[in-house]
Amino acid sequence: MKIGLLGLGTVGSGVYEIINHQKGHYFATSKEEAIITKVMVRDINKIRNINIPDKLLVTNFEEIVNDDEIQVVICVMGGIELEYSCMIQAMNNGKHVITANKAVVSEYMDILYKTAKQNNVSFLYEASVGGGIPIITSLIQTLRINQIDEIKGILNGTTNFILSKMTDEGWNFADTLKKAQDMGFAEADPTADIDGSDVSRKLSILSSMAFGSHIKDENIYKRGIKEISEADIDMFNDLGYVLKYLAHSKLEGNKYYATVEPVLLTNKNIMSNVNEEFNIVSLNGNIIGELQFYGKGAGKNATANAVVGDLLYIINNDFKKQEITLEQQLENGGNIAFEGK
Ligand code: NDP
Ligand code: HSE
Repeated sequence: MKIGLLGLGTVGSGVYEIINHQKGHYFATSKEEAIITKVMVRDINKIRNINIPDKLLVTNFEEIVNDDEIQVVICVMGGIELEYSCMIQAMNNGKHVITANKAVVSEYMDILYKTAKQNNVSFLYEASVGGGIPIITSLIQTLRINQIDEIKGILNGTTNFILSKMTDEGWNFADTLKKAQDMGFAEADPTADIDGSDVSRKLSILSSMAFGSHIKDENIYKRGIKEISEADIDMFNDLGYVLKYLAHSKLEGNKYYATVEPVLLTNKNIMSNVNEEFNIVSLNGNIIGELQFYGKGAGKNATANAVVGDLLYIINNDFKKQEITLEQQLENGGNIAFEGK
């Protein structure tokens, strides 16, 4: 199976390395070999920490989405409109699409689902929420039996890394953000991490799938963490609280509310012990009750692992299992009005 990779940064290089070098269980269980034949980058002359033949690199996405031999396009670039166009064109050309880009999924998930369905291809985005946590697959699995009425969690590795280093080791905000960037957790522009947009996009994806209505991130109330100072953290510690950046959405009747904000927790709350780049997601199902999912929420290997997991669904023809679409959910749930906080 031939693959076109759009992006060779933190996530793209992880995907390239897993597919080319981790020849363990992955190849043993796959029905077909995966071969990356073209990789799109912005700067072809950039010095890279990855061993890749120059002949694979292209700078024009048309060379990938119009390549008849490529069956799967993996979008891990980080923009919005360009990535969206790439995904739509790839699907219209009969290619399966995998992405880690929550900004595009959150904004355009309804159109992307429809386009995938029209073209009988799969559209998978496990890596877009929770990094390495298989939360999309788990949410779909939970929805097979349950109605989900509440989602809570820590959904951003960068800000959780910042808050936990400030709390546990007394680091300052700016230096800790720089460290999170160096470790590949932060977005290319970390504003989205700090102002809450990254989390609200992730909450938008989970809530839309769970509640059956396209809840865009602009309809989610958010407060960022950039005003939090070392003095605030010291005071919270003295009072016996831990500051965490929480996402929360809840369905009540035909209304929902959704918020992203810093919240003080006591150390009895399990979420107060989620540190560094780790994420946690809690779902409440009407039959199963509360389920919690924990793991690395950002970074090269965690995210690439989720992307390659999606690829395996496609290679092994299992992607139909993923098909609880927003469209189907809408048919079941109808439109839900937005109730702000
Ligand atoms: P990076 O900034 O590290 O990499 C982006 C890559 O895309 C680079 O290779 C860059 O090329 C290429 N690129 C960007 N814009 C263009 C363009 N206009 N034309 C051609 N190539 C372009 O990003 P990440 O790998 O960190 O993130 C990629 C996506 O994955 C984002 O959507 C992000 O939100 C998502 N994600 C990231 C996670 C993480 O932990 N980093 C976790 C989960 C999701 P060049 O190398 O030449 O600069
Ligand atoms: N910047 C994001 C984070 C990457 O820190 O969580 C993972 O989505």
